[in-house]
Amino acid sequence: MAETHSVVPCLVMWSNDLRKRKSLITRRRFLRDSTFLATTIAAGSKQLLGARSHSEPTMAVALDVDTLAKFVDPLPLPAIAKPQGRKPSPADPKLSLPFYRIQAHTTKNKVHRDLPATLFWSFGSSVPGPTFETRAGEPLLVEWSNSLPSAHFLPIDHTIHGAEADKPAVRTVVHMHGAKTGPESDGYPEDWIVPGKSSLYYYPNQQDATMLWYHDHALGINRLNIYAGLLGAFFIRDAAEEALNLPRAEYELPLILFDRLLTHQGQLLYPISPDPQSPWVPEVFGNAILVNGKLFPYLEVEPRKYRFRVLNGSNARIFHSVLTHENAAENLPFHQIGTDQGLLPAPVLLTRLDLAPGERADLVVDFQEHRGAQLILKSDAFVVMQFRVSSGKVNDTSSLPSTLRSVPKIPQSQAVQTRLLTLDEYVNKAGNSVMLLLNATHWKAPITEKPVLGSTEIWSLINPTNDTHPIHLHLVRFQILDRQAYEPWLYQTKRQLHFLGEPEPPDPNETGWKDTVQAHSRMVTRIIVPFEGFPGRYVWHCHILEHEDNEMMRPFEVVPANRVP
Ligand code: C2O
Ligand code: CU
Ligand code: CU
Repeated sequence: MAETHSVVPCLVMWSNDLRKRKSLITRRRFLRDSTFLATTIAAGSKQLLGARSHSEPTMAVALDVDTLAKFVDPLPLPAIAKPQGRKPSPADPKLSLPFYRIQAHTTKNKVHRDLPATLFWSFGSSVPGPTFETRAGEPLLVEWSNSLPSAHFLPIDHTIHGAEADKPAVRTVVHMHGAKTGPESDGYPEDWIVPGKSSLYYYPNQQDATMLWYHDHALGINRLNIYAGLLGAFFIRDAAEEALNLPRAEYELPLILFDRLLTHQGQLLYPISPDPQSPWVPEVFGNAILVNGKLFPYLEVEPRKYRFRVLNGSNARIFHSVLTHENAAENLPFHQIGTDQGLLPAPVLLTRLDLAPGERADLVVDFQEHRGAQLILKSDAFVVMQFRVSSGKVNDTSSLPSTLRSVPKIPQSQAVQTRLLTLDEYVNKAGNSVMLLLNATHWKAPITEKPVLGSTEIWSLINPTNDTHPIHLHLVRFQILDRQAYEPWLYQTKRQLHFLGEPEPPDPNETGWKDTVQAHSRMVTRIIVPFEGFPGRYVWHCHILEHEDNEMMRPFEVVPANRVP
């Protein structure tokens, strides 16, 4: 199969001016997103028409969300998950641990006042599912049960590895993104269960305070299951974070962002390719950006500091979030205080936050100067939500300390090995993407990445494609070393890495611990990874879910030090 594909040519306009190049890429990406939206809507309408033409004469097409009234629904907050009692710890049966039972099932949610309720799959009564509030060092158990119907409501591509027609259509397995968890509880993509079954997972929570998120990870249909709504947030707290006196309680809120394509009837539309035999599309971008499951919500805030815990739970969209006054173009400043795996060394002042699928950002926004104003959160051309600042006097006793948490830089000399790994996209004769791989290797090939438990490695991600790929490693946290542009033609034809210009250090808001990194087009992105935690089999993958499913995901195995040959 592999020989029928050819690597995408990377002949593009080239500039040594990195800054200019970065903005060119961003612009190109934006334009591409917009044109792709048009084609996906067309494809999606066709899909619905095809599905309904016998029984239902109603023409279902994608909704123009701009016809809806904005800011008529308050921002919802997902419920807090409550334990159902205690159960013995698998690590030490003398200990009893909080036990949660979370059911994936069908639910209907209003995403907007003026739309009929939307059919979702959820881990609770709403999408996102319930939020876990937990503490570092306090383990817990979750029984994830699959109570979904036996048929899928989104288009499965049976030509995709792991989603063949002989597999049950409805399968789920839950992964806790960013958790340092044993392999048996990590949600390995092949560990899926069918409706009526459940899995008991153990989360040790031996890691720094941060925002994790749980989501489906079933092989070959992950993009459909998460799109259907199978995701939620999981917070870990610790004393170091609490000592900082950051805004808390009602002044600390999750903002879980994801885009979806909605029909006129407010239902989820998952676009398909023109080929009914292989409906997979390379990326899905929605017409509606939901915040905690609402379209265009508003939030009433006091003129004081708030802490927002932001997650990009989209299938493919990178958010470029800015905050503005209602009728002004100027982007207002805010601080980022944490990233995927916890607090940054110091707050970083931003006027735009670029967040790729899988990434999290911990923000502090001070509304003090904006008494009585209405502020808008936007991403590119999209209006996301509104903040209505009250005008009364408030006494804000929270702080934004100038230093947060030390993140000692891992010296490169600590790495015992450097792996060169490519991000590969394959196209057919018509130039359409048909598959993506990591290091030109299929999911099923023998495991090639076998880091030793306790050792540190450098992974150099070479990206010859036109896109940014958010690359995520399970189990571990890592630091970004640098990104460096290379000459694409030499690499394309001779596999020679000829660097252009100096390596760029990570952006200031990337200088904390990460678990997902944006690997930009035609650059080598280097991360340094201490493989700590547990031996066993995990995965790493692109967090653009369409890529991950088709097959931009590979296993890796952490091997115990004493078992090395
Ligand atoms: Cu967000 Cu493999 O996961
Ligand atoms: Cu993960
Ligand atoms: Cu990708």
